[in-house]
Amino acid sequence: MKIFSGTSNKPLAENLAKKLGTELSPLEIHVFPDGEKRVRVLEKVVDEDCVVVQPTSPEPDKNYMELFFIVDALRRSGASKIKAVIPYLGYQRQDHVFRVGEAVSLEVIATLLKWGGVDEVISFDLHSIKIPEIFKIKLIHLSALPIFAEQIKKMGKESVLISPDMGGIRRIKILSEMLNNMPYAVIEKNRDLATGKITMSGIRGESASWRKENAVIVDDMISTGSTIVTAASLLKDKGAKNIYVFAAHAVFSEDAPKMLGDSSLRKVFVTDTIDIPKSKRFPKLKILSVAETIAKQLKKNS
Ligand code: R5P
Repeated sequence: MKIFSGTSNKPLAENLAKKLGTELSPLEIHVFPDGEKRVRVLEKVVDEDCVVVQPTSPEPDKNYMELFFIVDALRRSGASKIKAVIPYLGYQRQDHVFRVGEAVSLEVIATLLKWGGVDEVISFDLHSIKIPEIFKIKLIHLSALPIFAEQIKKMGKESVLISPDMGGIRRIKILSEMLNNMPYAVIEKNRDLATGKITMSGIRGESASWRKENAVIVDDMISTGSTIVTAASLLKDKGAKNIYVFAAHAVFSEDAPKMLGDSSLRKVFVTDTIDIPKSKRFPKLKILSVAETIAKQLKKNS
C-alpha cells in the first residue's frame, strides 16, 4: 500500500505513514502563475493499492480539484485500488435541498469522486449518518468520539455532555454510552438559513445537571464559532462552571479562533482532520490526532 498526500494536511499524512511503518510516496504538485495545478506521480504504482490523504477545507474547491488530479494521475499510472482519505469532507452540510432551487453540492462531489476513479472514501464524523447513502462508492465513516471519551475520562470531575443542537443528539448519546451513561442535555438552536444568524432558546433534558463541575459541549465541527460561543454563554448564564468543547473538525472560518480564544471556555479540543495553521491556534486549543484511527482502518483491509 502506498500513501500519497495532497497539500491540505501533510502533517496528518506524514503521521499516518509513520504509524503504518512507511513514508509518503512522492508527488509533484506544480502551481502555475494563474493558480492552475499540474500533478505528477513520481513512483511506480502499477497494481498497487494507493491511499490519498486530502481533507477538503479550507479552501474546499481548491482541495477537491487537487484530489481529483492526484486520483486521475494514480489511475492513469496503473494503481489497482484508490482510497481517498478525506478526514473532513467538504460540502457535507449541503446534503439535501433545504430551500427550493438549491443545488445538492455533496451529491456533485460524490459523483465526481466515483467518476474520477476513487474506489473508497474514508472520512470522520459526518454531519449526518445518511451521507454514505449519497455515495455510490464505499464510504467508511470513522469517528473521533472514542478519542474524545478517553480525554473526558481523564478530566475526572463530574461532567455533563451538551449537544449545542438537536441534530447532535445521536452523537451525544453515543458518547454518553462510551462514558458509562454520563448525563447529557441538548440546547434548542435555530439558525436563520438566509442570514446564518443563530439563536438558542433553552436546554432540554437532564434538568439542571449542566450545573455540574464540567459542561462539555460536543459538536461535529466549528466553523464560524457562533454555535459554540452562543452555547457557552447560555450555559454560563444558567450557572455552568467550567465549560469545555470537543469538536472533530476545526474548520475555523472568519474570526472563530479569536472568538473562541476570548470566550469563557476553559479548553477547546479538536482533532487534526483539518490542518490548523499557526495563525489560527490559540492557547486554549488542544489538538488530538486521528492518525492512529485511520491507520487501524487501513490495516484492516490491507
Ligand atoms: C450544525 O448543525 C453543525 O453541527 C455545527 O454546529 C455548525 O456547523 C457549526 O457552525 P458554526 O461554528 O459556524 O456555528
